[in-house]
Amino acid sequence: MKVPFIDLKLHHQPLREQLDAAIAEVVDSSAFAGGPFVAKFEQEFAAFCGAPFAIGVGNGTDALWLSLLALGIGPGDEVITVPSTFMATAEAISFCGARPVFADIEDRTYTLDPAQLEKAITPRTKAIIPVHLFGQMADMKAILAIASRHGIPVVEDACQAHGARQDGHAAGTLGATGCFSFYPGKNLGAFGEAGAVVTSSPELKQRLEVLRDHGQSRKYFHSDIGWNGRMDGIQAAVLRVKLPHLKAANDRRRAHARLYHELLADASATTPLETAHNHHVYHVYAVRIGERDHILESLTRAGIGCGIHYPVPIHLQPAYRSLGYGLGSFPVAERCAAGFLSLPMFPELTTDQIRMVVDELKTCLAGHQPHACVA
Ligand SMILES: Cc1ncc(COP(=O)(O)O)c(C=O)c1O
Repeated sequence: MKVPFIDLKLHHQPLREQLDAAIAEVVDSSAFAGGPFVAKFEQEFAAFCGAPFAIGVGNGTDALWLSLLALGIGPGDEVITVPSTFMATAEAISFCGARPVFADIEDRTYTLDPAQLEKAITPRTKAIIPVHLFGQMADMKAILAIASRHGIPVVEDACQAHGARQDGHAAGTLGATGCFSFYPGKNLGAFGEAGAVVTSSPELKQRLEVLRDHGQSRKYFHSDIGWNGRMDGIQAAVLRVKLPHLKAANDRRRAHARLYHELLADASATTPLETAHNHHVYHVYAVRIGERDHILESLTRAGIGCGIHYPVPIHLQPAYRSLGYGLGSFPVAERCAAGFLSLPMFPELTTDQIRMVVDELKTCLAGHQPHACVA
């Protein structure tokens, strides 16, 4: 039995008729770019998050970038984020002309360490982007307390955290804006590229609506230099079919995570920690192990689909060499990157498949025991 890393076909099978009908409705009405399907999805996604507004955009990168632009971030500004994230978080900062400044992550939650954040703030800091990595929210209480003391807005990168909560607050609803990606493999995924920003600010909502549509305040009247950052009607229609099933799908991910924790309790692997205040939605189930690359190779040979999120922290990427960071700049992020191994995680995973993954992982760990250490 092979175990895939993710199986989107299986996920879509039971919804196939509804999805086909939803796409046909968009085709029949020719509402392809923006339009009524996007407007309906925006209302429904805002309600799901418990936010007053959602603004549909082209993808998660647009959501982050347009949020920063709407907040007035530009050349000369610094924006603090973590090096343990997908490249898009930093790219969004760079594409405003601002400078990404990194702060290290916490060793057990893999999210922004508030103590490191505090140290990274300078008079040029104009925004903070905590990343809710793998589906668990960063320590928003501590981050917001620091941010408000310094009068700096917070943009949540919730691209991996649809439906995650902290102390009852949904991911994306605590910052000035919350940014989501609906890339197909996400907990809520489109049939292509899509994203959204949620906010409680009517001013930011209006700014974002203008910026995502070529800076138009009305047709062919451009108050700003914006961008083509609209959401497609077909993606909105697909997302409207899938959204009502998101909570159940997240609950299944959580049940799978519980079983992984239980079965891996006696293995020399560090399993994810869900903190007391958090409701983790396990977009990724990443363990930390020694000899990671060898074990990944063995698991792949055994037919277990695994991933690494992410092998190189952003401050060590060649693209960001000019920022002047080096090996040792962010020891926690670097240690995590060397040990992270993402195991199969998707709602339709079966108990048997999880047992097989764990058996195989334990066999591999035992085989590499002489050098193995918990990363
Ligand atoms: C943490 C994080 N931020 C931003 C993005 C960018 O989203 P998109 O790929 O939709 O542009 C992603 C998507 O992979 C992500 O995981």
